[in-house]
Amino acid sequence: MIRKSGLSAVAAAGVLSTCLFAIAPLSAQAAPTAGTVVAPQATKAPDLATATLRQLAAHTGMKFGTAVANEPLVDPDDPTYAQLAASQFDLVTAENVMKWDTTEPSQGQFNFAPADTFMAFAAANKQTVRGHTLLWHNQLPAWLTEGTWTKAQLLEIMRQHIVAEVGRYKGKIWAWDVLNEAFNEDGTYRDTIWLRVIGPDYIAKAFTWAHEADPKAILFYNDYNIEGVNPKSDAVYAMAKTLRAKGVPIQAVGVQGHLSTEYDAPDSMPANLARFAKLGMYSAVTEADVRSVLPMTPAKRQSQANGYSVMLASCLLEKKCISFTVWGFTDKVQWVPGVFEGEGYAALWDDTYQTKPATEAVRRLLALAPNGKPRGPKAP
Ligand code: XIL
Repeated sequence: MIRKSGLSAVAAAGVLSTCLFAIAPLSAQAAPTAGTVVAPQATKAPDLATATLRQLAAHTGMKFGTAVANEPLVDPDDPTYAQLAASQFDLVTAENVMKWDTTEPSQGQFNFAPADTFMAFAAANKQTVRGHTLLWHNQLPAWLTEGTWTKAQLLEIMRQHIVAEVGRYKGKIWAWDVLNEAFNEDGTYRDTIWLRVIGPDYIAKAFTWAHEADPKAILFYNDYNIEGVNPKSDAVYAMAKTLRAKGVPIQAVGVQGHLSTEYDAPDSMPANLARFAKLGMYSAVTEADVRSVLPMTPAKRQSQANGYSVMLASCLLEKKCISFTVWGFTDKVQWVPGVFEGEGYAALWDDTYQTKPATEAVRRLLALAPNGKPRGPKAP
């Protein structure tokens, strides 16, 4: 990745907001002209000062989501977490509880209790759910990673896991991240237990079995550093093209969107999403956050706002980009500090639930975006 100058980031943010202004002045949303296609929920322009993110996003047709952790939802000392999770977002992803180490901690013994708790929260708040994630190289249980398996055995383990988990929530999950992070930065396949034991065929099998278990769920390949056009996203594109030509049900690409203010924002993201759309695929921003090396400065805050804006505007501009999800909405419950030493401040709200320039930038972009029909298949 390329180091960036703060100046270019700020300039890019300016260009983007000007561009969206040109497409959709706020007044045009309030009074659509004859012949304009307007989504049913778009009759009232949301009030920028008071509306929640889900209210601001509704008229665009795009869903606005967050990752949710189970524990803070019931923290008696922090009612704000559950309150914001419920009120600001119309789409939720379980941050951890649908991963393999939680759902199948011993072979054939499924533990869906935490995922059920998460599903109940979503249902109570009329939120759509993204399932995350069926196949990954991380957060796998020891019985699986430490076992010695033949190709046939591992395929059967994979099949049973996918069928059990997708089947459990059949008809309740809008989209599944079937496969997570299967490529290296240079576009070669990542060396995982799946690739080593089964070979690249595991990918087609995973999508096929997930589709059989819930034919209506939108099936995603999901990865980081594939926001823009680069060798890794080229490889994902080539894989998707090949699989789709063979009739494999890979229907969407998830760009995670883990950015850093140390690096350039992905300015080629619109072009990247457009090429997947041309293949007939949906896309989504699935795990947006923009971290910084601490301490923060005004320039870094501005650069963070630019990072979120570039991703959100790119998604808004591509009609097949169906949702925008942040990976945690508060720095209080956020994965960055635990993984990137000395970094943080990645979420839209800080650790005391104060908003940031990034929060305001996102809100403004949503308010200014054109009205649109609901994106993607209808949520269950
Ligand atoms: C992270 C969670 O946020 C952490 O709580 C957990 O300890 C590790 O996983 N890409 C993904 C997510 O697809 O599942 C990861 O979530 C972040 C990177």
